[in-house]
Amino acid sequence: MNEQNVQSMTFVLFGATGDLAQRKLFPALYNLYLEGKLPSPISIIGLGRSPFSDLNFQSIVERSLREYSRRTVQTSILGEFLSKFRYCAFDARNQNSYQLLHDIIIQREKQLGLSGNRLFYLSVSPNLVDVITSNLSACGISQTNGWKRLIVEKPFGSDLKSAQQLNGKLREVFTEDEIYRIDHYLGKPIVQNLESLKLANPILDSLLNQKQIANVQITASETVGVEKRADYYDQAGAIRDMFQNHLLQLVRMTALQLPPKETNKKIGKKQGDIIESLRPIKQQDISKNVVRGQYESGEVHGKSVAGYQEEPGVVAYSKNDTFFAARLYIDNPSWSKIPFYIRTGKRLDQKSTRIVIEFRNKSINLGGFQDSEIPSNLLIIEISPHERVSLWNYIDNFPMDQLDLTCNNLSTNSEEQPESYEILLFDAINGNKTFFVHWKEVESSWKWTQPLLEAFQDDTLPLYPYPAGSSGPHAADLLLQENGFSWR
Ligand SMILES: NC(=O)c1ccc[n+]([C@@H]2O[C@H](COP(=O)([O-])OP(=O)(O)OC[C@H]3O[C@@H](n4cnc5c(N)ncnc54)[C@H](OP(=O)(O)O)[C@@H]3O)[C@@H](O)[C@H]2O)c1
Repeated sequence: MNEQNVQSMTFVLFGATGDLAQRKLFPALYNLYLEGKLPSPISIIGLGRSPFSDLNFQSIVERSLREYSRRTVQTSILGEFLSKFRYCAFDARNQNSYQLLHDIIIQREKQLGLSGNRLFYLSVSPNLVDVITSNLSACGISQTNGWKRLIVEKPFGSDLKSAQQLNGKLREVFTEDEIYRIDHYLGKPIVQNLESLKLANPILDSLLNQKQIANVQITASETVGVEKRADYYDQAGAIRDMFQNHLLQLVRMTALQLPPKETNKKIGKKQGDIIESLRPIKQQDISKNVVRGQYESGEVHGKSVAGYQEEPGVVAYSKNDTFFAARLYIDNPSWSKIPFYIRTGKRLDQKSTRIVIEFRNKSINLGGFQDSEIPSNLLIIEISPHERVSLWNYIDNFPMDQLDLTCNNLSTNSEEQPESYEILLFDAINGNKTFFVHWKEVESSWKWTQPLLEAFQDDTLPLYPYPAGSSGPHAADLLLQENGFSWR
């Protein structure tokens, strides 16, 4: 894409002094700029409560690029890039702040001859989202001659009711087409390329169906504990922090079978259809299909670490889940017989996010090998720490009279991959909503999760302890063992 193709615009970043802006958003803007993918001209206005001058703010941006950009900062063009940034000291709860912001937006639009397109990025605490949105309208900032778009970070609500209320507030000011709910897992190149991997490889495409697949496993394991996020995490738990959003998005990306060249609207509908088709788990079946756990003290990579209850900021006797696993089914003709096993947790033995598709074993007697000796073939899509797709199969090592496992790497493993936020910002700037989360999906995912949240709240489900540095509670292994499988 070359820069003349992108319409001029104002990018308003709420929370510009925060962690996400420094680590991800400024580097993403810079890398897009280097590739000529930012609109020209563009006005970027950063907001935070701290009192900075434009120059102070530009040096904060520069520091963030030097520390976090995937490409080295080029001094020759840095000045030109930074000149696009202005700062506005802004308190979301103070009406005067909005007037000030409006003045700066208009002044820069006139100065640069911008066409009135405005993109608002809310990189702030969730409890500021509705107050900012309402004030954007009340103060006239969202009324513009160009297009307007709103990017919202996760979490989107903390249960079904709060998500519906929040959505109602946003919809008073923005249409669904104008709301971009970001889930950075959907910006990962490997996740975005799942569909093209299938379409470009008829072999894979023919394997990915009910006849061939035995089960799908999605793991997002972390070695870190709650760190400094106890305020938020002790309320949210693994179920809200990871499962309801990121992991259900990976479920739908795995299950999505799109014909090529779908329009954005159709894709949004199909995405929603997958989550809507999740088979509800009845109250009495929750304990048979869902496992929650909490880490105790233990050793991670040879280092002793505290248990969750001892972590700073965690309330005494907290029953919060730091581990979540579930077996779920998608009730549509393509997937209804295939179990999806999902697990996520903190303080586990390895850091890894991956999707594993396990294929069925054939009932054949090959060269004297009994069925039970032949392990299944696997398609492994690693999302982090490395992005890689591999097909694991077995060859008959004739002289040794044994089956050897071989791995066929199906991806290039390029070091030059753009980061999620780069891809998603580019899409939002260009009005492409394909990899943003539609309201229908958010609502369906909360509807499916709500009975589980209630069971957790009412403490009707065991909370299994697991030692830090382990692979989680044994109960999560049993979820698969009762169907004859094990975690891969
Ligand atoms: N950090 C991540 O990796 C990450 C990942 C996924 C999602 N998120 C989501 O992204 C959002 C931002 O996260 P973060 O980690 O950047 O948070 P953060 O470091 O706490 O930053 C919060 C930002 O909000 C501003 N702010 C706070 N109160 C304000 C108010 N009353 N009026 C105006 N601005 C106010 C702060 O400005 P001052 O400090 O100047 O007051 C700061 O710029 C959150 O919703 C989070 O859940 C973050």
